Amino acid sequence: MESGSYASLVVMPVYISGKRPEKWEKQVKDFVQKRYGDLSSSNGFPPGGTIRSIRDGYPEKLLSKLSKDITDSYCGCGFPFESIEFSNFQTVVDLGCGVGLDSLLVSDFLENKGRVISLDFAFPMVNKLQKSIDKNGKKNIFPVLGDMEKIPLKDEFADFLFANASFNLIVKKKIAFSEAYRILKPKGKLILRELALKNSLPDEIEQDPSAWNSSLGGVISKSDWLELLTNVGFTDIQISDEKDFSPVISLKIQAYK
Ligand SMILES: C[S@@+](CC[C@H](N)C(=O)[O-])C[C@H]1O[C@@H](n2cnc3c(N)ncnc32)[C@H](O)[C@@H]1O
Repeated sequence: MESGSYASLVVMPVYISGKRPEKWEKQVKDFVQKRYGDLSSSNGFPPGGTIRSIRDGYPEKLLSKLSKDITDSYCGCGFPFESIEFSNFQTVVDLGCGVGLDSLLVSDFLENKGRVISLDFAFPMVNKLQKSIDKNGKKNIFPVLGDMEKIPLKDEFADFLFANASFNLIVKKKIAFSEAYRILKPKGKLILRELALKNSLPDEIEQDPSAWNSSLGGVISKSDWLELLTNVGFTDIQISDEKDFSPVISLKIQAYK
């Protein structure tokens, strides 16, 4: 979640008589894929990624293990891993990994006793992550180009899934959550760092398709996140660490299969 250039808005659909045009969902998805791809290929991330990640709760000691290029590319909405015990996880999946800041941290937490699969549908994002991996000689992290609505991983593949500010960008959230549920092992854990509506957004944002440009277009309420996760079968859902992320809030959501 960040604010940035509106240069790509030409591909955005417009509302016709207040209604979404046909194929609106595909247009939004293509737009998000292109926008995040462009951010990475042009290194056009909004300035201050490292400072924002510290502000959002990332311990500076952890960030100092990563290159500034990676921490400057932070697009998340909070530190997802407070109080998470990694020693029992063998297979972890980062859904919507971006350049892989979180994946790179997890690869260290796992200490070569486990692996991280880092999934994103924007090729320049996974490409940048692959370059970091090659540079650092990491052996337990595997970037995968793929869509969260059709994850190219087998059923019951992972012990632990996490996603940082990526589900909000998806129009068909129920499909993406069903996919997350499918690839998680029974009793497996899901952690989301996500945005939620504080109140309803001002009309000018809600009515503006270009709000997807800044991640706001797909933000839903806390109760909608809960309902979606419950409907696809997740249990023991807990929401914590609510932080102001003006004009919305950021949450940590924990759930189990
Ligand atoms: C706001 S960025 C967050 C990136 C990263 N998690 C972080 O914290 O820096 C969201 C990422 O989700 C990816 N994404 C959005 N929709 C996706 C989808 N349907 N399938 C795979 N990746 C998706 C985007 O390409 C982008 O890299």
